[in-house]
Amino acid sequence: MITHKKLPNGFEYIEVKNRAAEVKIAMQGAHLFHYARTDEEPLLWLSEVSDFKLGKAIRGGVPICWPWFGFHEERSLPQHGFARISMWEFVCGKEIDEKTSSVTFRLTCNDETLKMWSYRFELKLHVVISDNLTLELKTTNIDDREFEITQALHTYFKVSHISHVSIKGLDKKPYLDALTYKNELQKGDIIFNEEVDRVYQEVDGEIVLRDKNREIHIKNQGSFSVVVWNPWIEKTKRMSAMREDAYIYFLCIESANAFDDVRVLESGDSHTLVATVL
Ligand code: BG6
Repeated sequence: MITHKKLPNGFEYIEVKNRAAEVKIAMQGAHLFHYARTDEEPLLWLSEVSDFKLGKAIRGGVPICWPWFGFHEERSLPQHGFARISMWEFVCGKEIDEKTSSVTFRLTCNDETLKMWSYRFELKLHVVISDNLTLELKTTNIDDREFEITQALHTYFKVSHISHVSIKGLDKKPYLDALTYKNELQKGDIIFNEEVDRVYQEVDGEIVLRDKNREIHIKNQGSFSVVVWNPWIEKTKRMSAMREDAYIYFLCIESANAFDDVRVLESGDSHTLVATVL
């Protein structure tokens, strides 16, 4: 079932339920903020104190960072771009079979976006909901000039306890440490016992998030970069819409085109970033 819903404050979202899973996706940002397989715990983390307010990004789920990842050199522009705080259009929903549904959202340039980024574009998010979750983010350049983008599907995964988890699949990959601005090389699996904010490069295989009682597999296409982030104790205190102990219960593995993995699109070209969570 695909239903258009509203929170008591009027914040709109689409709910999709089938026999395999359910999701909730906000009209603002096409921001998926809930995914759970039937009779299982949610896979994604959502802050208990997140605001569902226009103009503010939801804290958790899968924010779409676009058309730039991170801060803009013009500091008055929004961190991680404007897609996550823009109102998208719901294009269509399909019930493919009892266990598979899909929904598509679109954002196109308008007076507001052109003030922040002077290019004409079409951005589409296609989500396939089943035992697995697939997000396909397609950028099309409808301008008559080339443009470049950096972007991320900034997924917040829910974990039982940060000290129980490790990430496999990035061994020997180079990364930019965003805390020191140094280039480093990953040795072995990633574990968390301090703040981590890294842009991994040359990523080509599956990434596995191991928790005490479950494993999540992440496959990316159209991407060679992955951001791994956990704010740890001190940064969490400074973060908006997070409780002080939030860092214990999530980590982000972000399917990205960031740092060296910038994408340049000629007029008429498209690029699709795909993240599949299995
Ligand atoms: C991550 C960045 O992708 O997003 C972090 O690497 C940043 O540096 C985090 O703190 C959250 O950003 P925001 O804008 O959602 O608070």
